[in-house]
Formats: sequence, structure tokens, C-alpha cells
Amino acid sequence: MKILVIHGPNLNVLEKRERATYGDKSLSEINALVEKRARELGVEVLTFQSNSEGAIIDFIQTEAPKADGIIINPGALTHYGLSLRDALADSALPVIEVHLSNIYAREEWRHRSVIAPIARGQISGLGWRGYIAALEILVAER
Ligand code: DQA
Repeated sequence: MKILVIHGPNLNVLEKRERATYGDKSLSEINALVEKRARELGVEVLTFQSNSEGAIIDFIQTEAPKADGIIINPGALTHYGLSLRDALADSALPVIEVHLSNIYAREEWRHRSVIAPIARGQISGLGWRGYIAALEILVAER
């Protein structure tokens, strides 16, 4: 089983963003924790980050046919990334949307996700552990 773990815009500089909102782990620390849990579960993960919606879509189109599920934190693309939404829907894979922060407890423009309607589910506000929970759920539901 292979799971794609995708991080959207600005998540590459996570440790420089608001720690009170996003926690104190860098993206590479989060990826390492996800990879460790994947090894324990006996599944493969492929991680990817880009600040560009097009690059994320190219990655999904290339890798989804060889994968079994997608975990994605779309960053701000969550709120307006309709091309990303279409690419995720076209993949026909189960998608779990993850947010480090609770998007519903923040500015009103963050409350709407264009990804959520095509996702298997959404985890918001539980920090880096949201990625681990998403991985465990995709593995349990395989
Ligand atoms: C985020 C929430 C988004 O609103 C924001 O634009 C991000 C990060 C989160 O993980 O909480 O970049 O997806």
C-alpha cells in the first residue's frame, strides 16, 4: 500500500510561521514522523511539497495511478484551489484533508474548504498528529 502525503503553499517554511497556530515542528520533522508511523504500519509513503498549484496537480496526475490514498494539507489552496480539487477528484483515491490549525476557529475566509466535499474526511486543528491519524485511517480502511 502506498500513500501520497502532499503539503501545499508555505508549508515548507512551517517553522518560521506562527508557532502558536501551527506548532513547533518543521515540515521535515512532520514528514519523518509520518514515515516512521508508515514503517510501523508496513506501508509506503511518498511526501511532496510545492508552493505551486500546478506542480501539485502534476504530482497527483503522475503518482496517483500508483497509489492507494492521499493525505493533503492544501494550505491556502484549501479555500480556492478548484483545479486542485478537480485533480484530487479525478484521482478517484480516498483523500483525507489535514490542517494543523482549526480552520473553523480562525478568520471567516478559512472556514470554507473547496476540497472537503470531495474528501473522504477532514482533520482540522490537531496539529501534526492529524497526519498520523489520517494515515492510520487510510490503512485501516484499505
Ligand atoms: C492550514 C490552514 C490554511 O488556512 C493556511 O492557509 C495554511 C495552513 C493549516 O494547516 O492549518 O497554510 O492548511
